[in-house]
Amino acid sequence: MYFDTHAHYDDAAFDPDRDTLLSSLPEAGVTLVIDPGCDVLSSEKAVALADRYPHVYAAVGIHPEELGGMREEDLERIEALCAHDKCVAVGEIGLDYYWDDTHKEEQKALFIAQLEFARRHDKPVIIHDREAHGDCLDIVRRYSDIRGVFHCYSGSKEMAQELLRRGWYLGFDGPITYKNARKAIEVLEICPLDRLLIETDSPYLSPIPRRGKRNDSRNLRYVVEKIAEVRGLSCEEVAKTAMENGRRLFNI
Ligand code: NI
Repeated sequence: MYFDTHAHYDDAAFDPDRDTLLSSLPEAGVTLVIDPGCDVLSSEKAVALADRYPHVYAAVGIHPEELGGMREEDLERIEALCAHDKCVAVGEIGLDYYWDDTHKEEQKALFIAQLEFARRHDKPVIIHDREAHGDCLDIVRRYSDIRGVFHCYSGSKEMAQELLRRGWYLGFDGPITYKNARKAIEVLEICPLDRLLIETDSPYLSPIPRRGKRNDSRNLRYVVEKIAEVRGLSCEEVAKTAMENGRRLFNI
């Protein structure tokens, strides 16, 4: 039984077959999914999917890449969505200096505003950190009462150790199956089993042997197989532990 803690089923890539695919997931062994929003519209869609499917939960938030298209009232709307009973986290939120390193202050302000929502609504957060490791760490240090997951963790082993000490979880995705995954594998080797989460980031980041194709939660097994291989465990143990971890963090 798999828990995909990060899959964007609200994405247009799933327009042709969203309902068929989501309905088929429990039979395929994927019994829980979190769909994180990236802006108001996708957060609303994530909540609507969570309303419709018992095995789907939502997270709501504004992704740093959506900063440019934001309207002033968007943050209020996200905070209102936080109160929905199937909204289990604030996310995905964070910093992305790969995409844009000229609006760092605006990105930080947006990130911090949403950490405040998480605090007010007592929810964990799902963090996107792309080439912004120092600033992300600096900000989460200031919010030491907030916990969550660094989604598709891509920082150093040293940063991972500090996050783990602070109670954070680390998300592992398709890229751990890629040839150049040395850094992520090093982190996987030291991550305590009770702190790892398995994610697809569907429709993106398809694992090998599906790389380049649209991703969906059924491919989670390739991520699990890689973790099992690296940690010397059975796939069942990895899936079961990741399921327990996800349920604990997201209170499901
Ligand atoms: Ni994502």
